[in-house]
Amino acid sequence: MAGWLSVDLGIVNLAVTTDDDPDELDVRWSGGAVTARRKKNQVMRTALQKVGTKSAKRKIKHVDVTIPRLGKGFDGTRVVAVTDTHFGPINRTKWSEGVAAAVNELRPDIVAHVGDIANGTVEQRRGQAAPLATIRAELASVYVTGNHEYPREAQGWLDYMDSIGWEPLHNRHIAVERGGDSLIIAGVDDATAESSKMAGHGANFEMALAGTDPDLPVLMLAHQPKQVFQSEAAGVDLQIAGHTHGGQIWPFNFLVRLDQPNVHGLSHHGERTQLYTSRGSGFWGPPIRIFAPSEITVLTLRSA
Ligand SMILES: [Fe+2]
Repeated sequence: MAGWLSVDLGIVNLAVTTDDDPDELDVRWSGGAVTARRKKNQVMRTALQKVGTKSAKRKIKHVDVTIPRLGKGFDGTRVVAVTDTHFGPINRTKWSEGVAAAVNELRPDIVAHVGDIANGTVEQRRGQAAPLATIRAELASVYVTGNHEYPREAQGWLDYMDSIGWEPLHNRHIAVERGGDSLIIAGVDDATAESSKMAGHGANFEMALAGTDPDLPVLMLAHQPKQVFQSEAAGVDLQIAGHTHGGQIWPFNFLVRLDQPNVHGLSHHGERTQLYTSRGSGFWGPPIRIFAPSEITVLTLRSA
C-alpha cells in the first residue's frame, strides 16, 4: 500500500508517494515557481527526480585513513560506518535488511552506527531497527546517539542497541587488541544531549576517555562534525561523524556549512585529529537527495 509525505522545505514543497521499498519512488514537485513552469521544466524535473531517487539508494564508499599512531597490528582494519538511518513513519524494514546484508558482505572488523538511528521511539521503530541485530563484526559493534534520539528516547535506543549485541558508547570507551597492538574506541553523546536536560546525558569527552593510556590511538564516535573541536582538544586520532547528510538536498549544503566545520569527507584538525563526515546511510524528510548520495562507509585504517 502506498503512503505519502508532503514536506515544506521553505523554497519548494515536495510531495512524495512511496511503497515500502524506498528505491521505488514517485516524487512530485508541487510548489511555487516549479509548478508555474511545470511544462517548461518537465525535462529538468524528470532529470532531478532520477538523480535524487538514485542517490537515495545505497552506496558503498571506500576511504583509506592513515593514523600515524596506529600500531602495525591494526594496519588494514576495516571500520564500516552506518549513520543517520532515520527509521521513521515510512516502513523501511526491507531497506534496513539490505543495509545489514551489505555491511555483513563487507566483513567489517569494527562496525559503527554514529547516531540518528530513528525518528521515533524504540516501540514505534523496533521492526525497522531489528535487522541491525544481524550485523556481525570481528572486533566491535559500537553505537552513539544523535540529536534525533533526544530529547526523550536516547536511553531507550542505547538500551535497545545493547539488547541486540551492540556496545552503546554513552560517554565511555572500550579497548580492542590485534596483533599485539591496542586501539581505544570511544563515543560521546550528541552535542544537543546536554540542553535536552535528560538526566545523565551530555557529551563528555573526559569521561569517555577516563583511564585510557594517552599513548594509545583513539577512534571516537561523535554524531556532529562540530564536536571535532572537543575531539582535537582530547587528542583523538580519528572522529567519525554523520548528521549533515552531505547537505542532502542541494543547495542546503551551504546552510549546513554555517553550523558545521565539514559537510562530507575527510578533514584534518590540528596536528593529530582527523574527521570523517559521512553523508549518512538513510534520509530525513523526503526520500530524495540531490547531489548528496547516501553511503555506507568503509574506512580502512593504515598505520604510518
Ligand atoms: Fe543529526
